[in-house]
Amino acid sequence: MSDKPRPLRSAHSYGKLDRDGFIHRSWMKAQGYPADVFDGRPIIGICNTWSEITPCNSHLREIAEYVKRGVWEAGGLPLELPAMSLGETQMRPTAMLFRNLLAMEVEESIRGNPIDGVVLLGGCDKTTPGQVMGAASVDLPTIVVSSGPMLNGKFKGKDIGSGTDVWKFSEAVRGGEMSPAEFFAAESGMSRSRGTCNTMGSASSFAAVCEALGIALKWNATIPAVDANRQAMAHATGRRIVDLVRDGKRLSHFLTREAFENAIRVHAAIGGSTNTVIHLLALAGRVGVELTLDDFDRLGGDMPLLANVKPSGEYLMEDLHYAGGMPALMTELQDRLHTHVETVSGQTIAEQIEGGEIWNSDVIATTENPIKDNSGIWVLRGNLAPDGAIIKPSAASPALLKHRGKAVVFETIEVFKERIDDPELEVDATSVLVLKGCGPKGYPGMPEVGNMPLPAKLLEQGVTDMVRISDARMSGTAFGTVILHASPETSVGGPLGLVRTGDTIELDAEARTLNVLVPEEGLARRSTEIVPAEFDTTRGYVALHRRHVLQAHLGCDLDFLVGKSGDEVKRESH
Ligand code: FES
Repeated sequence: MSDKPRPLRSAHSYGKLDRDGFIHRSWMKAQGYPADVFDGRPIIGICNTWSEITPCNSHLREIAEYVKRGVWEAGGLPLELPAMSLGETQMRPTAMLFRNLLAMEVEESIRGNPIDGVVLLGGCDKTTPGQVMGAASVDLPTIVVSSGPMLNGKFKGKDIGSGTDVWKFSEAVRGGEMSPAEFFAAESGMSRSRGTCNTMGSASSFAAVCEALGIALKWNATIPAVDANRQAMAHATGRRIVDLVRDGKRLSHFLTREAFENAIRVHAAIGGSTNTVIHLLALAGRVGVELTLDDFDRLGGDMPLLANVKPSGEYLMEDLHYAGGMPALMTELQDRLHTHVETVSGQTIAEQIEGGEIWNSDVIATTENPIKDNSGIWVLRGNLAPDGAIIKPSAASPALLKHRGKAVVFETIEVFKERIDDPELEVDATSVLVLKGCGPKGYPGMPEVGNMPLPAKLLEQGVTDMVRISDARMSGTAFGTVILHASPETSVGGPLGLVRTGDTIELDAEARTLNVLVPEEGLARRSTEIVPAEFDTTRGYVALHRRHVLQAHLGCDLDFLVGKSGDEVKRESH
């Protein structure tokens, strides 16, 4: 779509001198707006996923007020509109089930209302991706303001990180190294302020990706949620979105193939969440950018890890901010980025990161001396995942990246939970844990259970990692030699479903292969014995999701949402 400024779409409602114009303006005046705010100024929608049950986004009502200041100041009219809020730690069976529902809601809310530009306020894992996907399908001028990370967690004089240390503490309790009382005491130390997980989880990863894509202002990813600088950034965003509307620069102007390539490289260098892979594939599908799972490996698979942030490193998001944030990290990476691409700030990436400096080299490493050599996402293929599976090598145990072991199979996560601590379970440190039935359609919604807890009896022996394979996702805060997103999923006949306990599985991550060592004919015979999964959902959104969700290697969007519908609405409401 052309970037040429066009008459404001809000003029279609507020600029009319007839009965329809009366209706559109009069009801808005019920809120106390003087007549002259409908003088043709840009109307900015502030799409807000604020919610008290999405604690990561619970300060976004306040942040919206700062965006409004900027919009008023620049001569626009800000109007806040709510959007479904997806709290990662609260929603069941998994917030991911509803990402596309949020995207649909955002798309239709933006298109249906008389607004000219949008600021998206989100943060928790699935909120920002869902919002950006929906906004991309309408394609108005759009800027993201993320929630920002929580302050560093504190426990017994040490920093602790959201999620990452939950998994560690939980294993320590099961292994007898931590008391339940200590475990519960850590709860309030971990989450000390509003904001998103303070590790490089899915929320921080996507906030960083928004900065790298050029659809958020500088520092979006790292300013702590409760730092006044985030309010100032929100204010600046309010000013800037009005300029973008006046310049007619739509989201698709920024979401180019080169911007996605930058995002993939930056995502690798921060040790970003595996969930970002799914979200970026879905977003690319919305804007018509050709992007495949293999692009993540090809562009990011050999990137150095520069951000020493949990779960791949040692520090937390607050530390990353004080160490120089994304400007410093992207300056270090600039030879591998398309720095000429334009961002919503009006500057190119090169201009935006100019002066970026590393203030703490323990937290942000240089490309000559990275935290780890191989970051990014590796894409594995073989007879267990013909359409691909992924592994995050920076969060894995190097010794397990080439491994052969006997499968211990769990048909569902419920069976896994029932059996994993059974002393009679035949499992040892070389076993490969296989979990089925956790894909986008089957679960439904592809839960974050791929980082299966290790058997208690092995934890007691000091085992800290095992190879685990599933069609599930895992939290961006999680770690381990965990192979995820096996595609196609088992519930639609994916070959991971053919694995039986005792089969030998061979992983060679460097060679990007994942296979079960069972002859072709044996697998073919087993496939005839599989009873296809039956889904009993017949109504509502979940039925729609199950009918239309795409597989993980395609981004898990709903098939009928791929692409754009634009901002045009042809008919009046009265
Ligand atoms: Fe919301 Fe981690 S649970 S960002």
